[in-house]
Amino acid sequence: MSSATNSLSQPPLKVAVVGAGTVGGGVLQLLRQNSERITAQCGRQIQVCAIAVRNIDNARSRLSAEDAALLTDWQTAAAHPQADVVVEMMGGETDAKECIFLALANGKAVVTANKALLATHGDAIFAAAHQAQKPVAFEAAVAGCIPIIKTIREALAGDDIYEAAGIINGTCNHIISTMSQNGLTFEAALAEAQALGYAEADPTLDIDGVDAAHKIALIARLAFNARPTLADFPVVGLRDFDLRDIHYAGQFGFCIKLLAQARRDKNGVAMSVQPTLIAKTHPLAAVHGAMNAILLRAVFSGETMYYGAGAGGHPTAVAIVADLIDIARQNGALTMQNSGDSPTLLPAADFRAAHFLRLRTIDRPGALAEITGELAKQDISIEAIHQNESAPGQEVDIIFILHEITRGRIEAAVSQIEKQTSIFGKIVVMPIQRFCSPGEKS
Ligand code: NAP
Ligand code: HSE
Repeated sequence: MSSATNSLSQPPLKVAVVGAGTVGGGVLQLLRQNSERITAQCGRQIQVCAIAVRNIDNARSRLSAEDAALLTDWQTAAAHPQADVVVEMMGGETDAKECIFLALANGKAVVTANKALLATHGDAIFAAAHQAQKPVAFEAAVAGCIPIIKTIREALAGDDIYEAAGIINGTCNHIISTMSQNGLTFEAALAEAQALGYAEADPTLDIDGVDAAHKIALIARLAFNARPTLADFPVVGLRDFDLRDIHYAGQFGFCIKLLAQARRDKNGVAMSVQPTLIAKTHPLAAVHGAMNAILLRAVFSGETMYYGAGAGGHPTAVAIVADLIDIARQNGALTMQNSGDSPTLLPAADFRAAHFLRLRTIDRPGALAEITGELAKQDISIEAIHQNESAPGQEVDIIFILHEITRGRIEAAVSQIEKQTSIFGKIVVMPIQRFCSPGEKS
């Protein structure tokens, strides 16, 4: 023990670690490797007193010999008599929820990276934390090492945030990037993201947009005191993602990103997670691979943007350790309230945006008129159209860029157009985000 350590006036913060996989392994490594720096930051040591995993033999081969006693039951770790803090990094919703309740009931502070759990059971967890008078800290749950939770709760706490829009699923962004830049198939791009430790244990959460939805739900809760469930807003992932649309969107000056959005106006909060067109010149268009970025718009601060690694063991570990350092410093900013009025959540059909529409039809007289007739019935106005050169009677793709309109009207028009005999397959519909000022049309 160094003389600096000997002179510390406060006892070490003792931590029980539950889960030592991609994220947990990164946390243990960071705590070991940077222990002197972390001690200096907190004025006390952070010591691991227990580690729970499912398979001890596997864990031994991955972890350092210095790591604390390995356990196979999370219950012992969550109620560990020495622990001040329990760090839940096992994922899932059942055991993880019980682990957090058990830790709080035993008077432990909690740190978690589990956005699925918080987005689904946040009310009950934050109520239990309030009752126990202990923090539940979750910086790692949203956007890896980007300090977005701290930014909303601390840096912008005095401002009035009205919009958050972000690329907040590293796996999906990695898939879109590698498919379009390296020509990988969807399956190969997903396998690569899994091998790199970006994907969830169940990668359907990533590719169906659910992971991004969990994260934007947490952001909306923090920024607007909203309490959305995933049933409250459109959540569309990459299952039907087609490289052709990157090409067509590019012809109009757009790229495509899986964008999560939450915006508040006088009517309520509108949210969505969907593949979305963004101008190629917008800074979000330059976010590639597993990188994340979140744009916040607020009344006084205007537009601010935050960029960094959104997934992976090392970056996510930094966010977990930051929460531990806050707890070690006894920073009171971590308690989360369940109180106050929640704004109305606007129905999914009311989500307004300009839209991209791709459909496949036959090149014949009147085909376009039948399509535009249905658009007109829904009061949908066309901004631009593209059709590749074709010959009479041939199948052809037609792309429309539509002026701002609600999702409900687009869906009504699309369902009628899909019934037309000269339309082939499903029509692709994606919103376009142009980031206009409030009140301006997109
Ligand atoms: P992971 O690599 O699958 O690791 C999970 C760990 O938890 C493993 O050590 C596993 O034990 C242990 N575990 C699972 N169930 C357990 C149980 N019932 N009892 C005891 N131990 C159990 O998962 P991860 O990628 O680190 O993700 C962990 C959490 O972080 C998830 O909530 C995830 O959403 C979140 N997260 C992940 C990332 C990322 O980039 N991966 C980023 C941000 C947040 P074994 O080692 O024996 O299998
Ligand atoms: N699976 C998540 C992602 C991990 O790909 O972004 C980080 O939350």
